[in-house]
Amino acid sequence: MHRSVIRRTLFRHPLAAVGGALFLAGGALFVVLLMIEFTGGGENPYRSLVTFVIAPFIITVGFGLFLISIWLQIRAARKRGEEVRFNLSIDPSDSGYMKNLRRFLGLTAALVVIVIYSGTKAYEATDSVTFCGETCHVVMEPQSVTYHNSPHARVPCVECHIGPGASFWVKAKFDGVRQLFATSLNSFSRPIETPVHNLRPAQETCESCHWPRQFYGEKMVAHTYYRTDEENSPWTINLLVKIGGGNPRTGKLEGIHWHMLGENRVEYVATDEKRQYIPWVRQITASGDTIIYTNSDLEQPDFEDPELEIRKFDCMDCHNRPSHLFTPPATAINLALSARRISPDLPYIRQAGLDLLNAEYADREIAHEAIGSGLHIYYGEDYPETAVSHKAQIDEATQTLTAIYDENFFPEMNTDYRVRENNLSHFVNDGCFRCHDGVMSDAEGNTISTDCSTCHLIVAQGPSENLDDLESSLSGLDFQHPEDIDEAWKEMKCTECHDSESGY
Ligand code: HEC
Ligand code: HEC
Ligand code: HEC
Ligand code: HEC
Ligand code: HEC
Ligand code: HEC
Repeated sequence: MHRSVIRRTLFRHPLAAVGGALFLAGGALFVVLLMIEFTGGGENPYRSLVTFVIAPFIITVGFGLFLISIWLQIRAARKRGEEVRFNLSIDPSDSGYMKNLRRFLGLTAALVVIVIYSGTKAYEATDSVTFCGETCHVVMEPQSVTYHNSPHARVPCVECHIGPGASFWVKAKFDGVRQLFATSLNSFSRPIETPVHNLRPAQETCESCHWPRQFYGEKMVAHTYYRTDEENSPWTINLLVKIGGGNPRTGKLEGIHWHMLGENRVEYVATDEKRQYIPWVRQITASGDTIIYTNSDLEQPDFEDPELEIRKFDCMDCHNRPSHLFTPPATAINLALSARRISPDLPYIRQAGLDLLNAEYADREIAHEAIGSGLHIYYGEDYPETAVSHKAQIDEATQTLTAIYDENFFPEMNTDYRVRENNLSHFVNDGCFRCHDGVMSDAEGNTISTDCSTCHLIVAQGPSENLDDLESSLSGLDFQHPEDIDEAWKEMKCTECHDSESGY
């Protein structure tokens, strides 16, 4: 028997209409977003997720549905034993085709509106601080929380992390997509690794808001400490920090920001990932002379190594925590005692608080339980009378410790002050003393300055919170270490005794 060959268009199937509409709507979204990407101002890696992941995804789904519709039609024809030649021709005489054409046009119109509207909304959403900090909630929580407590809480993440320019734009796009996959595959490291290698040079980020010419003069910084004795005895040190800059009277470049000013240039090599060990420093003076300092206690770098990075010292080498500062518990407790959010009348509260904050907890819930009951248990056992007479103070101290924990400790990400060096001082981490340590010296044996008054003057110090009770002098005092340790502080780095165990 002779079977006739039927000719039929593939566009008859309803699924072909759905696929085609999705394909077109995705394509339209892609074109619109690409236009915004190239003309718009804001720079954001996550934004490109919409352009380069979501829009192509819609296009692919549309195309996939279309392929499925072909397969369904061929299979149905085979089943019926028909001999069909499918083609892609437009066939107004075919009623099945016409019905589907109306479906397709209607759907496309609706989808283009919906997809472009929600696409641009998603686009706006990814641009916001909330998205960066909260979408990848657990991953970014430590940075997001500390950011909201920082002086930069109103500066959008992208201002420091990406900044303007084409090459960083492209890098950031790739990075955003990589981060998305790391997050969904749960393959990110805990804690997130620092330093951030693709951070833009500070000249292009920080200096767009703080240009070095702004720096001048001194800044008074007051520190009140509480000892780990029963009385939580206070000790105050007020420093006049020599911010520096151009001296308005002499025009000389001096003070802490000297490294960054005018023609001065300092370069260094670090031998560890976190840039804590610096065996080699090169200073290029304003007159173009080069001075090389080396640290004989450390292994010298291998200059043959092609991976070796000679880094230009910039803002981020001191201000590496401008926006994500994980305050050490001792410092946080000192501040709380000063502000009386923890009462110094509670015996040994400084030490008891430190022990609770510094303990290892598997997650936040366990930490809350331990800190919530810790002080009551301690005073109940060791000071039963205080536990009763000072119940209100113990409750308040408990709340304060919990708040300190929540702002600075992130057990799910293994992130706190112990893995986040702060280079802005020399007390908690070596910071300035990575170079200004009395060992780093040039060929003639001159060391990089270590005198305590190079960077600050101690203008008041002593065992009280009250300025009137203290020894003070605006021309600077010789440092008196709060605990009698002879001259050890002259020979050793502060961090050799003030380590993370003691809460710093
Ligand atoms: C004032 C500038 C600034 C702002 C604003 C800022 N950051 Fe950072 N951020 C930094 C610097 C500088 C580092 C690098 C520290 C390093 O490399 O040692 C950093 C590091 C990070 C890191 C790496 C982990 C770490 O703790 O070092 C993450 C993640 C991060 N930032 C996320 C964010 C998010 C999310 C926001 C917005 C909620 C944000 N940042 C806002 C300056 C900033
Ligand atoms: C978009 C503008 C902007 C950018 C970019 C920016 N900052 Fe700031 N910065 C500010 C503002 C605003 C303040 C708050 C000033 C105030 O509170 O008096 C501030 C404050 C500071 C302070 C003083 C903090 C304090 O405790 O008083 C430091 C230090 C600082 N920024 C360093 C940096 C560094 C380092 C970078 C680059 C990583 C940077 N900033 C990038 C706007 C910016
Ligand atoms: C050698 C280390 C070092 C470098 C490099 C450095 N700073 Fe600072 N900066 C400091 C110190 C230390 C302070 C005082 C901090 C304090 O005691 O609050 C400070 C203070 C500041 C302040 C606050 C000034 C004030 O009057 O309160 C700003 C803003 C600032 N730095 C921005 C920058 C920027 C931007 C750069 C890069 C151009 C930079 N710093 C480079 C160490 C440095
Ligand atoms: C990478 C090494 C390095 C680090 C880290 C470093 N410095 Fe320096 N610093 C130098 C060199 C080199 C000089 C020039 C030699 C000298 O004056 O002894 C210098 C000079 C100075 C001066 C003298 C400027 C003048 O008036 O002549 C001050 C003040 C200073 N640094 C402060 C700091 C502070 C504060 C920190 C930490 C926040 C710091 N430095 C961290 C390398 C470093
Ligand atoms: C190279 C610069 C530099 C030198 C040298 C230096 N300091 Fe400092 N010191 C700093 C900076 C920067 C800070 C942070 C200022 C602040 O608290 O904001 C600091 C902070 C301190 C603090 C307060 C610590 C805290 O965070 O509670 C003390 C105390 C102190 N210095 C004592 C000394 C003594 C004693 C010497 C001499 C052995 C000395 N410093 C030498 C730069 C220096
Ligand atoms: C040999 C060890 C040692 C060295 C080195 C050392 N300290 Fe201390 N420091 C101590 C001891 C011990 C205490 C008492 C701790 C206590 O009361 O619980 C102390 C207490 C302090 C305190 C009172 C705050 C507190 O938490 O108790 C300050 C401030 C301080 N030292 C500053 C410094 C500075 C700045 C340097 C570096 C120039 C330094 N120390 C070097 C051992 C040291």
